[in-house]
Amino acid sequence: MDRIHPREPARLSLANLPTRVHPLRTGDDLGVPLFIKRDDHTGGELSGNKVRKLEYLMAEAVAAGATHVLTCGGEQSNHARATAFAAARLGLRSVLVLRCDDPAHPPAATGNILLDELAGAELVWITRLAWRDRTRLLAEHAERIRAAGGRPYVIPEGGSNALGSWGYLRAAHELAVDLADVPRPCTVIYACGSGGTAAGLVLGGKLLDFAGRGIRLTTVNVCDDRAYFVAAILAICADAEARWQLGANVTEADLDILDGYVGAGYARSRPEELATLLALGRRDGVVLDPVYTGKAFHALVTELGRDGGRFGASVMFLHTGGIFGTFASPELSSALAARVSS
Ligand SMILES: Cc1ncc(COP(=O)(O)O)c(C=O)c1O
Repeated sequence: MDRIHPREPARLSLANLPTRVHPLRTGDDLGVPLFIKRDDHTGGELSGNKVRKLEYLMAEAVAAGATHVLTCGGEQSNHARATAFAAARLGLRSVLVLRCDDPAHPPAATGNILLDELAGAELVWITRLAWRDRTRLLAEHAERIRAAGGRPYVIPEGGSNALGSWGYLRAAHELAVDLADVPRPCTVIYACGSGGTAAGLVLGGKLLDFAGRGIRLTTVNVCDDRAYFVAAILAICADAEARWQLGANVTEADLDILDGYVGAGYARSRPEELATLLALGRRDGVVLDPVYTGKAFHALVTELGRDGGRFGASVMFLHTGGIFGTFASPELSSALAARVSS
């Protein structure tokens, strides 16, 4: 797909696009045609939804002559890992500011952390309290790099800003093609962690008249709440509007945020969520991660269990990645062990 908009910013090709779509047998059990879009297959080590955003963010970093890319996230951040690999691939250094329980005893190098280290990232561990100050901390580390003669480029949490949102504005164009022949109305469901994926999809959906075509976008927040994400998503959309005059005019009425599935909290799993995750692995051979896609898919299954027509005539689950987080989930390991022994 060539340029998607006359004012589309520069982009580097980092992801394997377009991502594949296929049906899920689980849809037969739920009584609705169910499809999955494999954004978990945008790459290998450089995979998941973040790669789409990084195509634009890294293009700006390279154009600015950056030597270092800095970003932040939770200890098993998929975004931080993807940023570390994108940087390494482009010959840049990366600094990842990661939150954990006790920076004096950082978590074991498993899952995404192991990969961060393989990509040669510098890891800076901070407390959950210090996380509130992450913007200032990133600026301080950027200053340290500048003082040593480097050129830092700072990417916010999740790559979720106006520039990063172009990744999913572009993905909306892919979805319009993917959904050409599926029964309408169709709902696209996906996880929301920092709001950038949602902002890009909603912008793209407005510009492509998804509503008029019978395509709905529903996002499941895996942390915080609806009010938090309404503000976060609208702020990104407003910034994009101010920078590129897209004419999308996104308002709160355009946002469908399915709240109520945060469960035990961010990155904490409930047995029923893990059961949904395990069931999809067995029924369809698709691995969900416990932090994002597992919760979003559990929301989908639960809502359809209550009302089979809840999402219209068909459903598209957007798999946003996160597989490496499964290797670092003690709850998932325990759930699997319990299954084996029962
Ligand atoms: C696997 C996965 N899915 C979904 C999300 C949520 O995307 P966003 O941060 O754009 O809301 C993230 C990151 O936060 C993620 O790592």
